[in-house]
This record gives sequence, structure tokens and C-alpha cells, in this order.
Amino acid sequence: MDLTDIETLSLDAARAELERLAKELHRANEAYHTHDAPEISDGEYDALKQRNAAIEARFPELKRADSPSEAVGGPVAEGFAKVTHAQRMLSLENAFNAEDVQDFDIRVRRYLGLGDEAPLTYTSEPKIDGLSLSLRYENGVLIQAATRGDGSIGENVTANARTIADIPQTIAGAPEILEIRGEVYMHHEDFAALNARQEAAGAKPFANPRNAAAGSLRQLDAEITRKRPLRFFAYAWGALSAPLAETQWEALERLKSFGFSVNDNTREASGPGALLAHHSEIAARRALLGYDIDGMVYKVDDLSYQARLGLRSTTPRWAIAHKFPAETAWTRLEAIDIQVGRTGALSPVARLTPVTVGGVVVSNATLHNEDYIAGRDANGAEIRGGQDIREGDWVEVYRAGDVIPKIANVDLTRRPEDARAYVFPETCPRCGSVAMREPGDAVRRCTGGLICPAQAVEKLKHFVSRAAFDIEGLGAKQVEQFYQSDWVKEPADIFCLKERYGSGAQQLKNREGWGAKSAEKLFAAIEAKRQIPLDRVIFALGLRHVGEAAAKLLAQHYGTWQAFVAGVDAAPNDDAAMEDLLSIDGVGAVMAASLTASLAQPAERASIDRLIAHLEIAPPPPPALANADSPVAGKTVVFTGTLTQMTRAEAKARAESLGAKVAGSVSKKTDYLVAGDGAGSKAKKAADLGVEVLSEEAWRALIGEA
Ligand code: IVH
Repeated sequence: MDLTDIETLSLDAARAELERLAKELHRANEAYHTHDAPEISDGEYDALKQRNAAIEARFPELKRADSPSEAVGGPVAEGFAKVTHAQRMLSLENAFNAEDVQDFDIRVRRYLGLGDEAPLTYTSEPKIDGLSLSLRYENGVLIQAATRGDGSIGENVTANARTIADIPQTIAGAPEILEIRGEVYMHHEDFAALNARQEAAGAKPFANPRNAAAGSLRQLDAEITRKRPLRFFAYAWGALSAPLAETQWEALERLKSFGFSVNDNTREASGPGALLAHHSEIAARRALLGYDIDGMVYKVDDLSYQARLGLRSTTPRWAIAHKFPAETAWTRLEAIDIQVGRTGALSPVARLTPVTVGGVVVSNATLHNEDYIAGRDANGAEIRGGQDIREGDWVEVYRAGDVIPKIANVDLTRRPEDARAYVFPETCPRCGSVAMREPGDAVRRCTGGLICPAQAVEKLKHFVSRAAFDIEGLGAKQVEQFYQSDWVKEPADIFCLKERYGSGAQQLKNREGWGAKSAEKLFAAIEAKRQIPLDRVIFALGLRHVGEAAAKLLAQHYGTWQAFVAGVDAAPNDDAAMEDLLSIDGVGAVMAASLTASLAQPAERASIDRLIAHLEIAPPPPPALANADSPVAGKTVVFTGTLTQMTRAEAKARAESLGAKVAGSVSKKTDYLVAGDGAGSKAKKAADLGVEVLSEEAWRALIGEA
């Protein structure tokens, strides 16, 4: 798609174009969803959306209240029934170089307690660039196919999956319950032919085989899917009534015996060296494979090891994706803008002449911080040979995974003569307050706190985000709108909206993008969130260093808002309170300092107190029910010394999976100290406090593992 004209659009022309695109996209959505009669192809739809996004990126201030880019989900998504996966569909951690792969091997060995020399086999499989699909078979019969969705809930595409020749409808010799996972993809030849047909029919071609595969699978009319040349590779499984095999390799063999296609470039490898060699070999043949892959996936072969390694929140510890180097493209850096974040961080952003990188139009890239622009890393060492980045430069951009695009290089031969070294602002571009850089911090921060409109808005956006208050109908766009009109200046104001403006549905109704119905709905959604679990409240405050996981730990530890504030308020002047805070495994000195400082800051605290007055805070949900009857559920355990049967990390994960809390230091609240060899001061302290001390053996007996 040609987006070059966007560079030259005037403000008025851009506004008019956004209006036109909004109308056209709304119309297309309605035709699709309401009338089931699409008027334009998926490709055309995508092109319009891309154009809209490119203009919005260049003129953020023109973004409309009813911007089509805010419409959630793909256009096809809403038509499908939702499916809750019996087992979450996972994603993979990424590795980008040899060091990352070696680190992965070291982490796995450490977790399993294997020495450097112990044999440890991996499988190395191509990472197919398509979309993942979960197939459920009961008694050998395909009964359901679902897309990944958000990992927990996907879309029911059973009728569509049945049209794919690589997917068996029935399987002989399968366990009663069998969920097969794999990738739907398209061959290059088939993709080219499909696009030729699209063009002949006057429809926009697909940008790449993955988009074509996704667009084809997610058709409400399965007869359209049937005409699309989709294929499927199986590489993993979900729920099973009986294990498939003892190793990943044998499991893949088993999938083949069920009639699935398994990628024949899969190899067994004895360690990082062999994995890297296979990666290079496949990278060299990548263009000849006939379908897109974007890296290799390495998996621990032994399935009993996989079970021991288990999962983090969304990724397994036993696998990693080693991506191929990202595609890059050269474009002009038009301007450097400074964005001010929730915690005041000044983040430089490169505004680029839009350019396509790996099938996606890129118009912004991160510049990280002032040192990065100047050509230095965090330790003052040169990067890019010490070359700085200037407005007007030609830069090479790349996308690594789904993250924000980055800049790899500058072409000095094309630097305009009048280009000046970039001077990083020392005051906040939004509120004018001094922007300070603490020693040892790469980031310069606005000191304006809540008086800074940028910080205030970003805090509000964070407050309503999905893992925080998640208020239906109140997204980033809407809070920004409310902030601009002075209706919502801080989180507490959200809970006053109805009271203040509430006959208000009337007033709200007259605002762009709001009708009487949506206003009433919003008020109801806000009401519903007055009752909210403690961990969400803590996370929603948006305190520096306190992420979702930390908020959960704090909530579990303190149990109530009152106990949390009392503990944090006391910590700076009361050793016992500070020790208690630091005893939470996962809370370190940096987080503790950030917590105590934030809650002690008068304006911030007043704002928090105003919010809390509106809420009924529920205690954090008890640890997963499955462990309620485990002998250590709800107990606080500390591990110390060298364990012989398992590593500390594994012991911790195991204890937590049984509902125990694992703390870093011994206190009166500790129920058990598990002391391995060479346990020192902690064992002594436990004895002093009368805490029960267990040997590793006794602990294993207690949890039923000895
Ligand atoms: S294993 C833990 N193996 O890559 C099991 N995934 O970035 C989950 N993918 O969501 C995936 N080829 O859609 C696995 N050989 C392969 C794969 C593969 C492609 C996709 C899959 C996954 C994504 C993660």
C-alpha cells in the first residue's frame, strides 16, 4: 500500500482524511457484522486500517473520539463463539542470539539441578509463522477447533478447521481425550496463487502468507475457508487423558502416527552448540522451505523434565523461540518527540517517514533515552561506533517480535548538512517542570508529579487498564477525553462522574462518541468496579517498580488495604515493619523505597486516599482452590542452605504450586524453615523465634514427595 502521501498531508487534509476513513471503516464493519454482507475484502479493510493508523501516528492530536483504530479485535473475530481452552495456550520466551540460547540451557540445568556435563537433549523445530490452533478429539473424533485468542479464550472455528486437509477428522489409537496444537499456515506458491485470484476478482491482495492464513481461517462462512489452501503442522498438545510418550521427539512421532503433518526439519540436539548449528543450517535454507518460518523453537526433550520445569505465567520454562534476525528497512527520521510516561520518564520517540518492515507499516520507533541518541550505552561505552542520531537522518529500523520498532543504524553519508546534534530537554515538554536524572538512572524524569498533565493522563490510562480497574467502556481514549474536559483529573473522579454529571447521561450524551445508552452503561460499569480485589487496587496506583506480580505479592502478604498502608507507612522508621515488607520474596530494597516514598508524598497520598474512600476493597483471592487441601497451603516457608534433591527455584515453584508462600527471610510469621546443607544464620534465627526447622527430607515427606 502506498502511504507516502501521508508525509505531505496538511493538517486540514489529514483531518478530512481521518473522517473519511472513519466513515468507510464504520460502514465496512456494519456491513460485515450487522448485515453479514461484507462490502470490501479483508485486504481492503486492512489497508484502510493501516492508512488510518499511519495518519494517526503522524497527527496524534487529530485522532478521533470514534477512531476506528480503537475498535477491539479483528473484524472477523466478533462473529465466532468463544471457547475456553481446557489448558491455556502458551506463548514462548524469545532468544535473539547465541548468548540467550546458552543462558536458556544454563537456566534449565540449574532449575533441574543438572551439572554442566550431565546429558540434556533438546528438540529443535522450525517456528512456523502462521496462527496457532487447538484441536480437541474425544474418542478419536474431532469435536472442536479453537484459535489461540488471548491464550485462555479463543474462537470456535471448528467448521473452518474441518475443511483443512492436513487435519484428520478421526484418529485411530488416540487417547480418549486428545488436544493437538499446531500452526495453520500457507505455502508460498499457494499464497501467490490466492493473491492472483484476489486481484483478478478486484479484491486487495493479502500482505503476507500469515495474514492470508489468518484471514482465511477466520471466515464466518466455512465454504470460503474450504477454497483457501490452508495447511497445518502439529507440534504440541494440551489436555490429554493419557500421556503420549516419554520425550518430545517420540510424542511428535506419535502425532505422525495419528495422521498429522509434523515438520520434517525437526532434529534432536545434544546442547546449545548443536542447537545453534541447526539454527544456522535452517536459516541458510529458509527461503527454500516454501513456507514462512520466523525462527527455531528449542524444547527440552524429556517430558518428565518438562513437567518439572513447568510454566511461568504465560510461557513454559522448558522451551524457547530462537528468532531469526529481524527484517530491516531504511527510512528518514523526521523528528524526535518526547513522550512523558506515568512515572514521569521522558521517552524519546523517532517519528519516521512510514516504511514497510516485514509486512507492517512502521512510523514510530523508540529511541530509549538520551544516551542512546548520543551513541552511548548505560555504562558510557560507545554504541553504533559512537554515532549519534539526529533529526533528518536516514535510519535503519527493525521490529524484534511484536515490540515497538527500534533503530539499528544511521547512514552518515546521507546526513543533511544542517542536521544538529539533538539536545535532550532538561525540562518537561508537557508541564515545564525540571526533568531530573538521578545518578545511575538512564532515564530523565519530570518532577511535576500530578501537576504534570502527561503523568496524570498516563496514570489514569494505567488505572483503567485491563490488569487494573478494567472498566468496560472506559479505555485510554475515553479517560483522555474526560481529562481534557476536566471531568476526570485523578482516579477518584471516575467514581464521582455519575454524581457530578449524572443526570449527567444527558450531558455526556451530547459529547462526541457518547449516546444516552453508552453513558448509562458506563456508569453501571463504574459502579460494578467499586468492589475490587486488593491486588488490583495496588497495581492500579501505578507506583514505580510495582507491577502486577508485585501487587499480588503485596496483597497476599498484607491481606487488607489498612494493613498494607500501615505496613508501608511504618517501614521507614520501624525496623520490624521494614523487615516485614522485605520478607516478601519478590520485594527488594528498590521496590520498598519506591513504595514508601510514593505513599509518603503528600499530594500523591491525598489523591490515593480520595480514591480509597470510594472503594470496597476485597481481600485478595485465596491461593488456587486446587491446593486448599495440601498440607502446606497458606503456610509461609523459607528455604535456606543447599538442597540436594531439587534446586531452590524448583523447590520454590513446587511449594507455591501447593499453595504455600515462600519468603526470603525468617520472621515470626514463618511456619517452616527448610534447611539444606550449610544452613547458617537463618537456621539460628528460626531457632531463636521458635520456628519449626525441617530437613529437606522432612519437607519432601510433608509434601508427599519423599
Ligand atoms: S510450541 C509451549 N512449537 O509460536 C508450547 N510453537 O511464539 C507452545 N509456533 O504460540 C508453542 N511453531 O503459535 C511451538 N514448533 C513450534 C512452533 C510454535 C510456531 C508458534 C505458536 C506459539 C508461538 C509462540
